[in-house]
Amino acid sequence: MIIRRFHPTNHDHPTISSDEQPSSDDFSHTFSQWISPKIPCNRYIFTIYFSGKAFFKHFKVAKSRIIASLDIGSSKIRTVVGTLEEKTQTPNIIGVGVTPSGGLRKGSVIDVEETINSISTSLEDAERMAGEPINHVFLGIGGSHIESINSKGVIAVSHAGNEISEDDVDRVLEAAQAVSIPGNRRILRIIPKSFTVDEQKGVKYPVGMTGIRLEVEAHIVTGLVPAIKNIEKCVLQAGVDIDDIIPTSLAASEAVLSKRQKELGVVVLDIGSGGTSLSVFEEGTTLHTAVMPVGGESVTNDIAIGLRTSIDTAEKIKIEYGSCIPEDINDRETIDLSLVSKIDSHKVSKKHMAEIIQARYHEIFILAKDELAKIHRDGMLPGGVILTGGAVKMPGTIDLARETLNLPVQIGFPQNFDGVVDKIDDPAYATAIGLLIWGSRLETRSYGFHFKGFGLKKMFGQVKDWAKSLFP
Ligand SMILES: Nc1ncnc2c1ncn2[C@@H]1O[C@H](COP(=O)(O)OP(=O)(O)OP(=O)(O)O)[C@@H](O)[C@H]1O
Ligand SMILES: [Mg+2]
Repeated sequence: MIIRRFHPTNHDHPTISSDEQPSSDDFSHTFSQWISPKIPCNRYIFTIYFSGKAFFKHFKVAKSRIIASLDIGSSKIRTVVGTLEEKTQTPNIIGVGVTPSGGLRKGSVIDVEETINSISTSLEDAERMAGEPINHVFLGIGGSHIESINSKGVIAVSHAGNEISEDDVDRVLEAAQAVSIPGNRRILRIIPKSFTVDEQKGVKYPVGMTGIRLEVEAHIVTGLVPAIKNIEKCVLQAGVDIDDIIPTSLAASEAVLSKRQKELGVVVLDIGSGGTSLSVFEEGTTLHTAVMPVGGESVTNDIAIGLRTSIDTAEKIKIEYGSCIPEDINDRETIDLSLVSKIDSHKVSKKHMAEIIQARYHEIFILAKDELAKIHRDGMLPGGVILTGGAVKMPGTIDLARETLNLPVQIGFPQNFDGVVDKIDDPAYATAIGLLIWGSRLETRSYGFHFKGFGLKKMFGQVKDWAKSLFP
């Protein structure tokens, strides 16, 4: 007998073959291991429960479909679930889940089982809040292994009358991918920056135009194959399909920027835990992206070393008493560590901690400045700097960024979505919401609107599969 975990959209999902099944006298196998060796038991039960519920709800939500994003960050795994209405591209957020990134370091898997459990917990939290099952996600992958390059592609237009078709655009983007990328790297995204039709430069969307030669300037984002595969494997084993993989460095901007800011020229700095992602936009399109390996975790480590505390204590006092402006703090102000820790009991200078924090944040902004200088945009972006990520909540960050980068600065709170979930009015959610917005566009634009998970026929098929899976 083959047992398949109820999984409506993935027919390639891992199964247990008859010879892998536990024998009845093998009590060391838990129920969850019997269902699947990797999928945690509670996640299985959750899916059965919500799938049954979704079946009855189906008739009410027939005009919308469920869409979800999974942001696997270095410190937190965030899931956001929304509904996508037939007539709009804007997701309506109905649930979020967040859990510490156990099993990961700087965005890479270091413990498979722990990572699967962390992903499952985040998915379950979101499912519980939404009251809907999550069967597939738009997955955000970050980390310092993510790199980007610019490339060009050229083709001859193939159609009679030389009218450029979508096929031509696909072909020219394929041609742009013919750059030498090391075998251990995979292209995650190719973004057309601008097209040239014959001699006409700066074309944003050439379909329908007439020309003989089509050229594209594209931005290619790649990641290390083993790092991506490990995360993919953990997500699949947590019981969800992957709709698409999107580098997190591209996602936050979708949630915090307006069209006008992208036109004017703007940089988004997403300061997370393991690193800082930078993405620059101009004339409505991506100009440059980069990932820098310094983030909130480096700040915490510096505090732990500088003030001789444990990492946990350093993280707590950073969030509770931290600041980027030591000048505002009195020399005599101290923090009694015994109030926040059982291990550390000495007193530390609040001003000294602020000096340590200021030095690291200054370094992050200097690295960003150098990145902007590489593309000749240092101090040159009229839309200024938009700060996202959990670490930008540090008091004084805006002033320090403004002084160092010599540009207007503001915090990027997520927008461009509907729904009222208080928790997400937070710059740390920009990436997860950006992934969901990105996913919504992919669903409605590229493939036409379709009810992948909630077609009536499919729904009955799901229930049939689910029923089958319960009986030997
Ligand atoms: N109120 C706060 N003040 C200062 N720093 C904070 C605050 N809240 C969170 N942080 C820091 O923000 C970082 C986490 O940010 P975020 O949740 O955006 O990271 P992540 O997405 O998990 O990591 P990454 O994007 O690097 O993979 C941590 O280093 C944490 O210490
Ligand atoms: Mg992040």
